[in-house]
Amino acid sequence: MKIFRFLIVSLLFLICNTYASHAGVFSFKRDNQITSDTTTFVSPFHDDNERCLKCHGQGKYEYTNETLGRQVKALMCSERIVNREDFYRSNHKSFSCTDCHSSEYVNFPHAGELRMEQKYNCIDCHGGDEKFAQYHFEEIETEYQQSTHFKLEEDGFTCWKCHNPHSYKINIRNKDNLKETISYDNAICLNCHSDFNHFQLLTDREEINIIQKHDWLPNQKAHFANVRCIECHTKINNNIPVAHLIKPKGEAVKLCNECHSKNSILMASLYKFESKAQRRDGFFNGIILNESYVIGANRNEYLNLFSLIIFIGVIGIIGIHIVFRISKNNKNY
Ligand code: HEC
Ligand code: HEC
Ligand code: HEC
Ligand code: HEC
Ligand code: HEC
Ligand code: HEC
Ligand code: HEC
Repeated sequence: MKIFRFLIVSLLFLICNTYASHAGVFSFKRDNQITSDTTTFVSPFHDDNERCLKCHGQGKYEYTNETLGRQVKALMCSERIVNREDFYRSNHKSFSCTDCHSSEYVNFPHAGELRMEQKYNCIDCHGGDEKFAQYHFEEIETEYQQSTHFKLEEDGFTCWKCHNPHSYKINIRNKDNLKETISYDNAICLNCHSDFNHFQLLTDREEINIIQKHDWLPNQKAHFANVRCIECHTKINNNIPVAHLIKPKGEAVKLCNECHSKNSILMASLYKFESKAQRRDGFFNGIILNESYVIGANRNEYLNLFSLIIFIGVIGIIGIHIVFRISKNNKNY
């Protein structure tokens, strides 16, 4: 009898373990090795740009007031400050300021009519260019024109509102920098959606309280750190790396099992870059498990089968045990 008891106990232990590993007790996370840019870029226009950055590069600028005949110090408003480090790390780091801005800007005070200057759009430079085909600019443009923000174009909404001309840097999406990508991308939206100063430039609507509007989402903090706004707010498009069609609020993802299920939408959005690894190590959506544990999205087929076998085994052993007990008890009478 002892051997049976031992068997049952050890089997129960095994079952517990199987479920524990299901529940993510065992960590599959990998160390985040951040591959940092070690080479420092030296712009051919460094000196040219300093003509602007001597005023626009920090909070204070100086100029000679010809009338008073002396140097005047003043504060540069924060919106007009261009951070050198960010600029020389951005996609357009090899540019001169005056590639995009009129060269008349070297003069100060800047001429009034420069304010009316027409700015280039992304598509003006990137449209129809083979070199940038992988980014699908044309398709992004089409999606943007169908997005909910497009109606604000007349009030000044452009691609530049999400892609800061002086700091935008495309993110390499891989599992090593996923958390950074998430916070970087969310900051793009929050630049308006948690900063009423920027928001009110484009609409007369009352301030939208993002936290309150999403209070149906349990543990909002964990969610916002692990998914991007665009996961729920854009229409999935398999052709382009980042979907740009932001749907009206009524069409946003609200059902939990859109993510917490085997067919998680995250595989077509956030984890698109490696969705090929779907069944890696026998885990459905194995890649998600590397980064976070999304209840319901990670199931292991082998573990499922294994626990079923164990379950049947245990029932069998208990059955045999009972039969022996009954027959032994019967003999005792
Ligand atoms: C002597 C300091 C100084 C220098 C040099 C300078 N700026 Fe400015 N710039 C300012 C100040 C102050 C403002 C805000 C007041 C204004 O718009 O005139 C400004 C405003 C601007 C604006 C915003 C205009 C708008 O539409 O409101 C742009 C764009 C700009 N500067 C670009 C440049 C570029 C490009 C250069 C270099 C070629 C440059 N600036 C050089 C001080 C300077
Ligand atoms: C790739 C094109 C590009 C380059 C390069 C560029 N800018 Fe700009 N800049 C823009 C655009 C577009 C805007 C208008 C942004 C908007 O509408 O939100 C702008 C706006 C500005 C403004 C006004 C800020 C504001 O929010 O209105 C200043 C000041 C400025 N740029 C300075 C510079 C300086 C200084 C450099 C060089 C270090 C530079 N820019 C390089 C495209 C560029
Ligand atoms: C004035 C022309 C011009 C405008 C406007 C412009 N770009 Fe660019 N962009 C370029 C050029 C040229 C390069 C290549 C720079 C280099 O190789 O150093 C580039 C590089 C890039 C890259 C990196 C490509 C790569 O493979 O390294 C991205 C992403 C990008 N731009 C996105 C945008 C977006 C988004 C906008 C609008 C918000 C925009 N660009 C507006 C000319 C422009
Ligand atoms: C509402 C905000 C928003 C607007 C408007 C917007 N974008 Fe984006 N875009 C994003 C976000 C967020 C990303 C992801 C950034 C990342 O991680 O690199 C992105 C990424 C991109 C990329 C890089 C795609 C890749 O391969 O990773 C390109 C190119 C781009 N946008 C072009 C555009 C163009 C062109 C427009 C205007 C027609 C535009 N965007 C307007 C938010 C926006
Ligand atoms: C898990 C999915 C999900 C995520 C992640 C998410 N949202 Fe939402 N969001 C929704 C849904 C669903 C609604 C509609 C809520 C309603 O109608 O009650 C909504 C509503 C909104 C609205 C409209 C509010 C109104 O009433 O006008 C804005 C703006 C918004 N979200 C912005 C964001 C921003 C910015 C982020 C990222 C920080 C974000 N959302 C992340 C699902 C999401
Ligand atoms: C430059 C500012 C700005 C940025 C950046 C921005 N938004 Fe908005 N967004 C607005 C404004 C303004 C409105 C209100 C539009 C209106 O008047 O109805 C809005 C409305 C919305 C709505 C509600 C649409 C509806 O049906 O009422 C959603 C959802 C939304 N934004 C999501 C996003 C997401 C996701 C991002 C980032 C990818 C983002 N926004 C980035 C300014 C911005
Ligand atoms: C856009 C995809 C998405 C949607 C929609 C979504 N979730 Fe999540 N959820 C996630 C991700 C990713 C995580 C992993 C967070 C982590 O790693 O901590 C998560 C984690 C959780 C957690 C664990 C949080 C914690 O404390 O660590 C709970 C509980 C949860 N979600 C419940 C829900 C419920 C209930 C809904 C529907 C109202 C929902 N989720 C909708 C993506 C989503």
